[in-house]
Amino acid sequence: MLDIRENVSLQEFNTLALNVFARYFFEANNAVQIPALFDFADRHQLPVLLLGDGSNVVIAKDFSGLVVKISLFGISTEEHDDAVIVTAAAGENWHQLVTTCLHNGYYGIENLALIPGTVGAAPIQNIGAYGVELSDVLVSVSGWDRQHKNWCHLEKDQCELAYRDSIFKRQKKDNFVITAVTLKLSKQAAIKNSYQALQKSLEQQSITQPTPQQIADTVAAVRKSKLPDPSELANVGSFFKNPMVSCEQAKQLLEEFPGMVQYSQSTGVKLAAGWLLEQAGWKGKRIGNVGMHGQQSLVLINYGKASGSDVLELADAIKSDILATFGVHLTIEPMVI
Ligand code: EPU
Repeated sequence: MLDIRENVSLQEFNTLALNVFARYFFEANNAVQIPALFDFADRHQLPVLLLGDGSNVVIAKDFSGLVVKISLFGISTEEHDDAVIVTAAAGENWHQLVTTCLHNGYYGIENLALIPGTVGAAPIQNIGAYGVELSDVLVSVSGWDRQHKNWCHLEKDQCELAYRDSIFKRQKKDNFVITAVTLKLSKQAAIKNSYQALQKSLEQQSITQPTPQQIADTVAAVRKSKLPDPSELANVGSFFKNPMVSCEQAKQLLEEFPGMVQYSQSTGVKLAAGWLLEQAGWKGKRIGNVGMHGQQSLVLINYGKASGSDVLELADAIKSDILATFGVHLTIEPMVI
């Protein structure tokens, strides 16, 4: 028997702290509950919203369906000569997994220290920071396929991971419940310290040959200096993706705006959205209950009583301004419900 609650505030279940309500709410602590929850939703013709820690979602208004918080826990490992296969249940805290792996001498995710959210949410936006992406270590994702009504296993290639994107944001959105994620980590340290902000901070500490632990500590320190703690200032990390433009547009932009931060990619040029926002005057700007962070202009803050419309209106104003100033389209990074 599922004890589904009704009319539950989601404020404590989303790090943007929007006080919206779920018509039905259930916290799943056992994977076997998942098919039954979808049966319930199908019987009542309800949409389903899956939540991890709610750290990459904007629930802009009350949700008239069933919200399922995924609270599945457990980590298992399979050791090989040089590598280790780590399988973690979807509800595990991502940073806790990074810490546990480091403690056991399993390397490869130390650059992803302190990213908020759960393990199950990590493949959805292919979390990435400081020169490493989940796709570098992901082996497979397991879960419940709502469409085919079966438990299944998607290999990395089937997850179609890209920059802040995956199949779970597209074809499998709303119809696949990630219950576990499998990673391949190394027992040998393979240091990745080429990300500029990371390199600079290591230099300041006079660390020339960092250990994985030092990488994790330095990443955590850099993150803390720029990104606000959601428990103090409600936010969902970067609010916009770094936009891609053509090489031609990038060249023209650089002529008009010398100093513009640009990263050359195989398919074009990626711009730093944070730089665009800062130049356009959005850094530290507050409008009523919402604003853009003073240390990292890509982070939208709810100062306490914001509504979903406050958030989306600010996002629209910024998108229009960036388009008018630079001719560049910004897209919102977290999922908007
Ligand atoms: N910048 C500014 N002003 C700002 C912010 C950034 O000029 O207000 C400039 C920086 O000086 C730097 C460049 O923009 O030259 C990039 O800034 P930063 O290193 O802070 O990274 P980012 O591109 O703004 C991305 C990710 C972050 C991730 C960091 C580190 C996206 C949308 N964001 O931010 O991810 O932590 O790189 O790898 O790709 C997230 O996804 O929620 C997130 C926080």
